[in-house]
Amino acid sequence: MPYFKDLREFLAVLETRGQLRRVGAVIDKDRELHPLVKWQYRGIDEAERFGFLFENVVDRQGRRYTGQVACSVIAPNREVYALAMGCELDQVHARWTHALSSFIPPKKVSQAPVKEEIHKGASLLEHDGLMEFPVPIATNGWEAFPRVTAAAVFTRDPETRILNSGMYNSIILGSLRANIRTSRHLREHWNKCRKLGKPLEAAVAIGSQLVVSFAAATNIPHGINELDVAGSLCGEPIEIVACETVDLEVPAAAEVVIEGEIPTDFMDQDGPSGENRGHVMPGGLVHAFQVKCITHRKNPIWHDIICEYPPSESSVMRAVNCEGQVAALLKAHGISYVKDAAFHHCGSAKHFCVIRLGDVNGREFSNSRVWHALFTVLAADASWPKIVIAVNEDIDPWDLESVFWAVINRSQPHRDVKIIQGRSPALDESMEPRRAAGAEQFSFAALNAPQGASGMLIDATLKWPNPPISLPRKDYMERARKLWDQLELPKLKAKEPWYGVSLGHWSEAEQHLVDLAEQGRVDEAAQILLGQCKKL
Ligand SMILES: Cc1cc2nc3c(=O)[nH]c(=O)nc-3n(C[C@H](O)[C@H](O)[C@H](O)COP(=O)(O)O)c2cc1C
Repeated sequence: MPYFKDLREFLAVLETRGQLRRVGAVIDKDRELHPLVKWQYRGIDEAERFGFLFENVVDRQGRRYTGQVACSVIAPNREVYALAMGCELDQVHARWTHALSSFIPPKKVSQAPVKEEIHKGASLLEHDGLMEFPVPIATNGWEAFPRVTAAAVFTRDPETRILNSGMYNSIILGSLRANIRTSRHLREHWNKCRKLGKPLEAAVAIGSQLVVSFAAATNIPHGINELDVAGSLCGEPIEIVACETVDLEVPAAAEVVIEGEIPTDFMDQDGPSGENRGHVMPGGLVHAFQVKCITHRKNPIWHDIICEYPPSESSVMRAVNCEGQVAALLKAHGISYVKDAAFHHCGSAKHFCVIRLGDVNGREFSNSRVWHALFTVLAADASWPKIVIAVNEDIDPWDLESVFWAVINRSQPHRDVKIIQGRSPALDESMEPRRAAGAEQFSFAALNAPQGASGMLIDATLKWPNPPISLPRKDYMERARKLWDQLELPKLKAKEPWYGVSLGHWSEAEQHLVDLAEQGRVDEAAQILLGQCKKL
């Protein structure tokens, strides 16, 4: 099946599946839109969440917009994420592993939907520049400016000419003025341009095909064009079109593209913003962005993503992205015995990872293999994950109750926990007290001190045979399940483990007692125990 040709086609499919709600009522983008959508992340189970299409958006002053706002449509839950990637949920990780090693480059076209309206030169301000779009305010009550949340920001490396796209937030400061907040790959291009004494050209694409967003939001190594990865994710080249005023190409199917320049002789002071780890960060220094041209489809749909305190749409996206990336990393290191890597919302789906180990290369217990896997996952990046836990195959790595059962019962802190120094803190409020308003958080000295921030690895796997899990044996639970259904009791959702298994430490004598009981010979079993009374 061909991949969605654009955001609109995807939204139509989402709607037929009952996972998109149209909101025809008048909604204030500055006061109501984000809090309304945020409720589903604070009040609805992940599987039940859906996307919103706001058709009648106004601002605080009652100004109406022609365009609609699609919010929470790309990843309200993992099922929708998989749909947006054009595959089944159980294929998502394999897609990522494949896409990070085998690319499909983009295809250049000359006609593009995103050129339906072009505002540049003398007509740049004919629709009031950036004010044309219904950009919502996020983290209401703590933020002051409309925030662009679903942007793929395109820049070109001035030395290699390779394109990069990153999903970076911006706030809108005027009709032709915004900022861009990042210290990632865009910053590397910016540093090079700064040395050359010229501004960095940038193009901000909103509402491209969903795989473009997935690739832009993922830590893909510098020097790889995210569009090559996006093409591979969806199995066909992404069509791109040349920008009007900058030497860049952007996805032809985007809803809106904002072209402009990032000056290299000054930076902006950012406003406060709600961050994915769960705090509102006072603004630091960020890149200024000066608009030169805006192109868009007629009646554009403004794509918006719910970020901030987890769980959020961005933490669903990040969880799946990070799981795919770690799967690819482990594969590259030949570590085939890690069956799953699970990232959790509480760690903003990046900083807390649980890996599930299967048979450790033919050996029942292998301490060095467990540590090899743990250290390899920690090496995914300098700043993430912060905590990695290894569990056995019988533990569901996505179920934190189960994971911490293993931590409590299968590890000793003095022996099975390692603290690794020299990590980068990444918005970590536990690193050091906040600095005064306007000052850069994390002193240069703290960031560059030999120890830096730290990470923690926990080996919560079995070290030797353990007694069986204290749940009824599988055959008993299966029989009871049938009985449960016959009695028409409430519908069950089985939670692993739902039956007890032997973990290696179980004697013939213990089994004999059970066998006797199962043959109805409980008295004989009792006689065996009574015969073992010990005089004190
Ligand atoms: C919804 C969303 C918003 C994000 N906002 C930012 C941001 O404002 N700044 C930033 O540096 N990274 C942000 N990220 C993470 C980056 O997209 C991610 O690190 C990506 O790898 C950046 O691209 P790059 O590696 O090419 O620089 C965001 C991710 C998501 C999913």
